[in-house]
Amino acid sequence: MIATTHLSHLLPTRMRERLDPYLEALDVFLEVRDPRVLASLGPSGVRGLLLKRGKQGVPTEAPAHHAAHFNWSYPNDHGDMRSLYERAKTGQWVSEELPWHTSVDPLNPEVPLIPDDFLDFERLAEMGVKLDLRERREVAASVCAWMLSQFLHGEQGALFAAAQVTESVPFFDGKLYGATQVMDEGRHVEVFHRYLDTKLQKLYQINDNLFVIIDALMTDARWDMKFLGMQIMVEGLALGAFGTLYRTTREPLLRELLKRVIQDEARHVHYGVLALREHLATNLTQREHREREDWTYEVALLMRNRFMAYEVYDEYFAHRMSREAWRQFITETPGMKRFRTVMFTRLVPNLREIGLLTPRVMPHYDAAGLLQYMHGASASELTGEAMIRDLDAAA
Ligand SMILES: [Fe+2]
Ligand SMILES: [Fe+2]
Repeated sequence: MIATTHLSHLLPTRMRERLDPYLEALDVFLEVRDPRVLASLGPSGVRGLLLKRGKQGVPTEAPAHHAAHFNWSYPNDHGDMRSLYERAKTGQWVSEELPWHTSVDPLNPEVPLIPDDFLDFERLAEMGVKLDLRERREVAASVCAWMLSQFLHGEQGALFAAAQVTESVPFFDGKLYGATQVMDEGRHVEVFHRYLDTKLQKLYQINDNLFVIIDALMTDARWDMKFLGMQIMVEGLALGAFGTLYRTTREPLLRELLKRVIQDEARHVHYGVLALREHLATNLTQREHREREDWTYEVALLMRNRFMAYEVYDEYFAHRMSREAWRQFITETPGMKRFRTVMFTRLVPNLREIGLLTPRVMPHYDAAGLLQYMHGASASELTGEAMIRDLDAAA
């Protein structure tokens, strides 16, 4: 909120609070410096940030513009995608295999959903909001429910994106693989929703910025942008986030659920890398390539900087502190800080692998502190099983 802070401070407090979401939206628009990126995200930004289309409690229609690509000769045109398809067929699981009988008490201090030091409640007290032990546990459980709700909404986006790219990719083996991903994403929607509904009994609305990204991908006609946005960015960041939660939660059902989902997601990101590596290197003009480099960087920042859990703020703190103070708290609080960074461990190596970390944009990633992950293993070098082994070893 650098650009609009000065403006908002000229206003009386109540008006400032009401205007804050809109000033923040304006800030997002101002932050996107590349006009082509702004043109591609802009209409979705208006729908998500200003019209709040993700928040209306009614179904959202996102008009799709892509072409379905048929091939009546059924070629075996991509060996790696074919073997991913074979692996995905045998890697299927059913949600009933999870230990749903586990009794989950979100307030039980013996089995915390997220680590006790995730939120810095002492800092919150210094900011004038003192919570007793029970309130602290309740807020921590709500932050976990908020994260899982965003995972769920992301999974709904992934389900539709997987269906769209299955139609629009030129690789026939990719279409067969895509069919398994549609099934995977359907199962992910099912298990995250069931967990939230029956174990935490809570479901938060979609974060506006996540809505913007999903809406932009649904409506973009270019298949490679859908891939880049969903299979690489959203899925890559989700994989990092799932891994962090898997490693730190002590709740056994959630751990098992995340373990299964991570193994599926590893295939999805691998597919994204396979589809884009060659395409970005050979089929694009320099201008088109640059657009994708910039788009990726802007979306990475949007996803890193703009997940402020306002839905939790509205529920517990709206009358006790300003949105600006909450934003500051969430930005600095240790758990969210860790999340924001670790999320990128899985994404950055994939950007390297598909050739989007060019010398032109690398300094931006460096300035944002993200280049430290540059030499990690990419999705094409890492199976889901290996990923779980690494996470278990690090726990
Ligand atoms: Fe998924
Ligand atoms: Fe996925």
